[in-house]
Amino acid sequence: MSQNAVEHPLWDALLEDLKEASTLARLTEIRDKYLSRQRGLLTLEMRRLGELPRERRPEAGRVLNQLKQNIESELDRRQKELSALRREAQLQSESLDVTLPGYRLPHGGIHPIHKIQKEMENVLVGMGFTIVTGPEIETDYYNFEALNIPEGHPARDDQDTFYLTGGMLLRTHTSPVQIHIMEAQQPPLRIAVPGRVFRRDSVDATHSPMFHQLEVLVVGEGISMAHLKGALEVFLKRMFSSETRLRFRPSFFPFVEPGAEVDMSCIFCEGDGCRVCKKSGWIELGGAGMVHPRVLEKVGYDTERFTGFAWGMGIDRLALTRYQVDDLRLFFENDIRFLRQF
Ligand code: PHE
Repeated sequence: MSQNAVEHPLWDALLEDLKEASTLARLTEIRDKYLSRQRGLLTLEMRRLGELPRERRPEAGRVLNQLKQNIESELDRRQKELSALRREAQLQSESLDVTLPGYRLPHGGIHPIHKIQKEMENVLVGMGFTIVTGPEIETDYYNFEALNIPEGHPARDDQDTFYLTGGMLLRTHTSPVQIHIMEAQQPPLRIAVPGRVFRRDSVDATHSPMFHQLEVLVVGEGISMAHLKGALEVFLKRMFSSETRLRFRPSFFPFVEPGAEVDMSCIFCEGDGCRVCKKSGWIELGGAGMVHPRVLEKVGYDTERFTGFAWGMGIDRLALTRYQVDDLRLFFENDIRFLRQF
């Protein structure tokens, strides 16, 4: 709108008021004072037009209209100015000096068991395995029966297993996850399962009622013991060193046939014998074998067509060895001074 100057006492009064208007709130008050529909000074002035002699009304009306435009645009201009100032002040007060030194937040460490578990998972993922998990609370069927562990087997003894109510139990190994996966999927399968397991052991430097295992399962056509050995060897060499060697000792687990205990050459003395491997040169890893056909049958796999291998190893003892910790209890006390060292 055009800002044609108008001589009028209200205009002077407005400019006077605006001089001390330094906030948007004050500006609103001033706007009301002049333009409010009820009691605005200009509004009242316009209402009085009717009191003028008829011939003076058009000119006076024009003046007041122009005055109204001028007042409005002056108020708007001032409003923009104040908003800009306020924004500026806000930016100033909220400005950050990004060069100031920050606060160092206290942070934890990665638990050594978790750390070695993640390393194992990474190696296995690199070998084409999928990482899966399963329930810690199991039924007898998954933990024992489907794994061909017969009634009366010592592992089923309540001296060894934590039984819960309702026929449930805490899994004593990660092998029941083999069953869950095979029930849900058809071969070929290549899975790795880390997780907590539970056994009624009393706590000492090498035993804990809760510990960790890593289970590996491969099922497909033509899978043989050679694949088991090859996969384990690649896994251990990538986990530890290219010098790491592997040894199978014949052993028995009801869910594999043939079965073996797996040792690896000591990662410290490479087999010469040292304190860590108790002079034997070997470190026990866990069990392995070809999946028993009866286990494959239980999940409905065609045992003429498919074979598989599995291994299960303890994570905690491997962490003890790797980090040269001599007491398993340290892993579960969660003393921050201990955990910070990893
Ligand atoms: N589940 C066995 C255990 O906990 C280990 C194992 C897994 C053995 C897979 C053979 C094959 O002792």
